[in-house]
Amino acid sequence: MKNKLIDILAENITELERTDIESALEVPKKSGMGDYAFPCFRLAKIYRKAPNMIAEDIKNSICEKNYDIFSKVENVGGYINFFMAKEQYAKQIMDTICAEDFGSSDEGKGKTICIDYSSPNVAKNFHVGHLRTTIIGNSLYKIYSKLGYHVERINHLGDWGTQFGKLIVAYKNWGSKEAVEQNGIAELMKIYVKFHEEAEKDDSLNDQAREWFAKMEQGNEEALSIWQWFKDISLIEYKRIYKLLGMDFDHFTGESFYRDKTQDVVDKLTEKNLLVESEGANIVPLDEYNMAPCLITKKDGSSIYATRDLAALLYRKNTYHFDKCIYVTGLEQKLHFAQVFKVIELMGYDWKDQLVHVPYGLVSMEGGKLSTRNGNVIYAEEILHESINKIREIIEEKNPDLPDKETVSRQVGIGAILFNDLYNQRIKDVVFNWDKILNFDGETGPYVQYTYARCASVFRKVGEFNYNEEIDYSVLTDEVTMNLLKDITRFPDVIKDAAEKYEPFMISRFAVSVAQHFNKFYHDCQINVEDEKVKAARLKVVSATMNVIKSALDLLGMECPEQM
Ligand code: ARG
Repeated sequence: MKNKLIDILAENITELERTDIESALEVPKKSGMGDYAFPCFRLAKIYRKAPNMIAEDIKNSICEKNYDIFSKVENVGGYINFFMAKEQYAKQIMDTICAEDFGSSDEGKGKTICIDYSSPNVAKNFHVGHLRTTIIGNSLYKIYSKLGYHVERINHLGDWGTQFGKLIVAYKNWGSKEAVEQNGIAELMKIYVKFHEEAEKDDSLNDQAREWFAKMEQGNEEALSIWQWFKDISLIEYKRIYKLLGMDFDHFTGESFYRDKTQDVVDKLTEKNLLVESEGANIVPLDEYNMAPCLITKKDGSSIYATRDLAALLYRKNTYHFDKCIYVTGLEQKLHFAQVFKVIELMGYDWKDQLVHVPYGLVSMEGGKLSTRNGNVIYAEEILHESINKIREIIEEKNPDLPDKETVSRQVGIGAILFNDLYNQRIKDVVFNWDKILNFDGETGPYVQYTYARCASVFRKVGEFNYNEEIDYSVLTDEVTMNLLKDITRFPDVIKDAAEKYEPFMISRFAVSVAQHFNKFYHDCQINVEDEKVKAARLKVVSATMNVIKSALDLLGMECPEQM
C-alpha cells in the first residue's frame, strides 16, 4: 500500500523522483494525522509557492481522482496527510507481515562479510568484556545473514605473543601438570601472576620468557607442545561458554594462525618503503595522519598484535574476498584499528573503506559491588550461571509445575543477559542490576519472551480451530489492533537500519515496542470469542506477532520458550 501511495504521489508530482518521494514520506507520530504524511516544504523552491498552497493543490488533484485506497486525504500546514481505507490497509499489512520471509531481504546476495568478534586471550579468563563482543558480534552475524549476506564468523583468539613465553617459564618453575589439568585457566592465571611477582625480583626471568617465545616463533617442539596444551585447556572453557550462549564460529583462526604469514607483511612494507627503523624496532610512521606509529617488529625481530592483524587482513581478503570486514572490540582498541586500516591503505590496497571497527563501552555492576571471587574482573561464566539460577528460583516460586524448567531457565536467564547487553547503543556502558535485568514487566528480555509465551498460550487455549476461515479484515481496523500491525510492519526497515549502523539495540527496542503493543491488544481485544470471524482474524494477528517476536529475538541470539 505504501508503494501504491508512492505511485500516486509520483503521478501527481512529476517534478520529483520516485526515490525522493519515498524518502520524504513519513509515518506521523501523533494519531489523528493519518497513516502517512507527505511534507511539501522542499517543493516550495521548485514551485515558488508556499508549502501550504502546494499541499492544497496536490491534495485536490489526488482527491479528484477518487483513489479507493484512501478514506481521507487532508492538507495540514504543508503536510498532506493520508488516511488509508482501513480494511484494505489492514489486509495489505497482514499480507506483508504474514509472508514467510517477512524481514528478510536479498540486499546482501553474493556479498561476504567477515565479522571478527569474541576473540578471548588464551590462558586468561573469559570476562564480561569478551561477553559483550561475543553478544554484539553474534547479533550482527544474525542481522547480516537475514539481509542475505554470507557471513564468516571469525574468532581471532589471542593465542600468540610474549605472554606465552612467560607462561612456559612459570609452568616450568611453579606449575604442575595435575593442577593445570584440574583447574584449567584458573591455574594458568595463577602461575602467570606468580611469574610477574618473581620477575620483579629477578629480571632474568623476563629474558628466559623472551627466549621461550623466540623458540615458539622458531617452531621449537617443546615450546609449541606446552603452548598447544595451554590453548586446548583454554578452548575447553571458551567452548563451554559458547555452548551455553548457543553460539558458534566458522573459524577459530587466532593470532598464531598468522605466525608464518607476518614475514610477508614485513616484506611488502619494506618493498613499499613504508618501514622505518626506530631504536631497533620497525615501525610505520603515521604522524602525518595524527596517529602514533604502527609498530611492526620488535627489537628482537618478533611480530606483534598489529603485524598479525595486517597478515590476517591480507589472508581474509584473499581467502574470503570480503566486501566488508567488521571488528567488534572495546573502545580502547580504536587507535589500533585506525592504525592497521591506515597501513593497509598506505600499502596501496583500495579497500580500506571496507574495514569497520565497531567499538563498545564498559561493563559495570550497579553500586560498584561485584559478586565475584576476584577483585575487579567479572567472569562471564559466573554471570551467566547466576542469571540462570535466579530465573530458576523465580520459576520455582511462581510456576513450579512448568515443564522442562531447566531449558526454560537457561533460555530466559541467558536471554536476559543478552537483551540487557543489546538494549542500548553499543558505546554506552552496560550496567548490571539484577532487579532490572530480570524484571518480567520492564523493558527486558524476560518481558518480551513472556509476551511470546502469552501468544503461545492463546493457541493452547483455543486448541483445534479451523483456520481456513476467510479473514474479515474489518475486524482488525480498530486503533489498538492497527497500531500493533503498523508497529510490526517496521521490522524490515529496523533490520536494515540496525545493519547499517551496526546497532542491534534497534532490534531490541523494536521487540519491546511490539510486545507493548501486543499486550494492549491482548487486553483490549478479546481473542477467544464465539464469533468465528472475529476469532480467526485476531488469532491471525497473534500468530503474526509471535513470528515477528521470535525473529527479532533470534536476531539478538535469543530463544523463545513456548511456556514460562
Ligand atoms: N584478543 C583481543 C582482546 O581480547 C581482541 C582481538 C580482536 N580482533 C583482532 N583482529 N584484533 O583484546
